[in-house]
Amino acid sequence: MQPQIVPQLPNEPVATPCFVILEDGVRHNLRMTALACGGIERLMPHVKTHRAPWITELLIAEGVTAFKCATNAEVEMVLAAGAKTVCWSYPTVNPVNVQRFVDCARQYPDAHLTGLVDSDRGLEVWRAALHDAPETVDLRVDLDPGLHRTGIPMDATAAKLARAVHGIDRLAGWHIYDGHVKGTRAERQTQVDAIADQVRSLQNELAKDGINTDAIAGGSYTFNLWPHDLARYVSPGSWTYSSAQHDIELADLGWVPAAFVLSTVISTHPGTATLDAGVKAISPDKPLAERFRWEDGRIVLQNEEHAVVESRDLAVGDRVFLMPMHACTTAYLYSDALVKTAAGRWEHRPQLGSVR
Ligand SMILES: Cc1ncc(COP(=O)(O)O)c(C=O)c1O
Repeated sequence: MQPQIVPQLPNEPVATPCFVILEDGVRHNLRMTALACGGIERLMPHVKTHRAPWITELLIAEGVTAFKCATNAEVEMVLAAGAKTVCWSYPTVNPVNVQRFVDCARQYPDAHLTGLVDSDRGLEVWRAALHDAPETVDLRVDLDPGLHRTGIPMDATAAKLARAVHGIDRLAGWHIYDGHVKGTRAERQTQVDAIADQVRSLQNELAKDGINTDAIAGGSYTFNLWPHDLARYVSPGSWTYSSAQHDIELADLGWVPAAFVLSTVISTHPGTATLDAGVKAISPDKPLAERFRWEDGRIVLQNEEHAVVESRDLAVGDRVFLMPMHACTTAYLYSDALVKTAAGRWEHRPQLGSVR
């Protein structure tokens, strides 16, 4: 059964603005994502989208075995929830941050932890931190598939760095995040195939020396397009809550929006209503017109704690659900979420908020 798209208002009083999660929606999206990538065992969901211990526990209970994180706080959260395979996909060169990750390996000796490197400098930092670290920590070489954010170029320099990591006995393989790949499914497939060819050449190059590597690859726009023989894991994240953007661009994946901001109309003016959902309630990392779906007209302005929207019908005191365009950067604004559980109850549950 397709879960409801817009939640019913809770009967009890709720402080607003409030981050609202529909557990049925998260469960539905997990099923669709696992189906699309060929099995839940191939899924390494990025947890930065939700930063919620209860969702990590739900994913583990449903069969997810591996997690991707952007920060140490997320790594610590998934380990505490019982994760046994964790990739910290952030090629930092800060020794303090690296040490905190390595300390996790000592605290959770039965977990397999992987970090990323994309430079000689990074490898030096890891080499120092790993000299007496458990064997359960290894490294992947982060490749730049064209996003030009992190990652080493996919050429001989990447093979050289991978050999150096192999030299300290810590090489797990490659990491590729291709967040720049957009377009129709066919266009995305063509781009992924071209990137995969380059990764395969690197893989073959190392195989000549008997060094076996695999890859973690992809985000929500590509995870279902990466070849199985190359990408051991695929790592989409924003599927968890999906969004007003996925709704339009990735409709074929069948995801449903599962996170909303509940807001109250605090004032009205001719043709407009003012909501208590400013940029501290819905992230401003998209252009004003696109920050949340608003079908009654334009979003006129958003200040810290106010949003003014065009509306003829809303009255002071009305409550409305807003569907964020980017759920990941909205979730982190809240250290607590109101969850509609699969059993139909409303419960407040903690999440990391902006803790690093
Ligand atoms: C390194 C990395 N991997 C995976 C993801 C997940 O991608 P998406 O948000 O498209 O699901 C992200 C998102 O930014 C990322 O930065």
